[in-house]
Amino acid sequence: MKFSFLKDQIIKEPAQADLIKTWFWTEKGLYLLDQRKLPLKEKYIFCDSLSKIRNAIKEMVIRGAPAIGICAAIGFVIEFKRFLSSLKGDEILIDKVEKVVGKISNLLTTARPTAINLSWAVSRMRKISLEFLKNFEEKISKKEILQLYEILEKEAFKIWEEDIEANLAIAEHGKDILSEGGILTHCNTGALATGGYGTALGIIRKIYEKNKKIKIFVDETRPFLQGARLTAWELYKLKIPYILITDNTAGFLMKRQEISAIIVGADRIVKNGDTANKIGTYSLAVLANYHNIPFFVAAPSSTFDLDTENGEKIPIEIRSSEEILTCYKSKIAPSRSKTCNLAFDVTPGNLISAIITEKGIIYPPYEINIPKIIKNF
Ligand code: MRU
Repeated sequence: MKFSFLKDQIIKEPAQADLIKTWFWTEKGLYLLDQRKLPLKEKYIFCDSLSKIRNAIKEMVIRGAPAIGICAAIGFVIEFKRFLSSLKGDEILIDKVEKVVGKISNLLTTARPTAINLSWAVSRMRKISLEFLKNFEEKISKKEILQLYEILEKEAFKIWEEDIEANLAIAEHGKDILSEGGILTHCNTGALATGGYGTALGIIRKIYEKNKKIKIFVDETRPFLQGARLTAWELYKLKIPYILITDNTAGFLMKRQEISAIIVGADRIVKNGDTANKIGTYSLAVLANYHNIPFFVAAPSSTFDLDTENGEKIPIEIRSSEEILTCYKSKIAPSRSKTCNLAFDVTPGNLISAIITEKGIIYPPYEINIPKIIKNF
């Protein structure tokens, strides 16, 4: 693929950046691969302001818990740069800088509610800004704000780099969960949804490297079709064979013993192991339990929310009726139909066989074992 639009200088790219280019971070802004258009078009959208990046997250140009966290961190840097270049005098009140930091943080964090990675990344950026500003009394010079800008740029890059490292470690830990048979995944948890490589899909990539005979089943994932449009596209690009199924086929395949394990990603994992993920995950977990099939969740530490006791407290995003009533802008139901478009559901920890993280595999009881492995989040 040629990137003729890329005339401006790329800021940085971590060493293991994937062959699938979810975004390019350049001196001028962020080019995001428009995931709404995949697989029909591979088109990048240019974002050089907070409002454009917030909108891209909200409208799902970019999606997937770790990816939106990293994008928000980069968005933080881009908006801070705009603020820096708008400064007139040589000195500015600390109060004003703090307000800008607060505004950027709020707007980014509220773009989507369920994935904790978003607020996790933004609060990391906010914290580092406020810690730096604490060193000054009332005013700060433009030169010092430039220093803060450089710190923020490094931090966003680190968040991206750490996510790739985490994914590679998750794949290493998870590669032995299955040696033969069929594996089913839901939604998209690959390079498009992360800093690179992927979580659940990263494990599947690794398992396939070991045994080319493994069968990979991909749920289409209604209504946004992350499975059909994105996971299938990624696997096709990676030359890994897969079988695409409609969501409602999964149960019967389990009954026919075609599925030996299920592995999904996560948007938020709370203290007792309850896990929010793409709508349909809960149904798969119940079906897996009924058919005695292991059900795994793969996620980095940044997806854990240890301040929340159980899944009841996880905010669930409700998206527009449009996503259910249309497909590629064509109407597929009477326009006046009432809809219930819950974007996520919560799978109780007791239906999850294990959670695969970059720090190791966590087994039940989760209340006891999660804090042993995941710290300071
Ligand atoms: O609405 P989306 O596409 O952002 O939902 C994505 C998912 O539910 C993924 O499974 C999850 O974010 C993990 S991505 C590694």
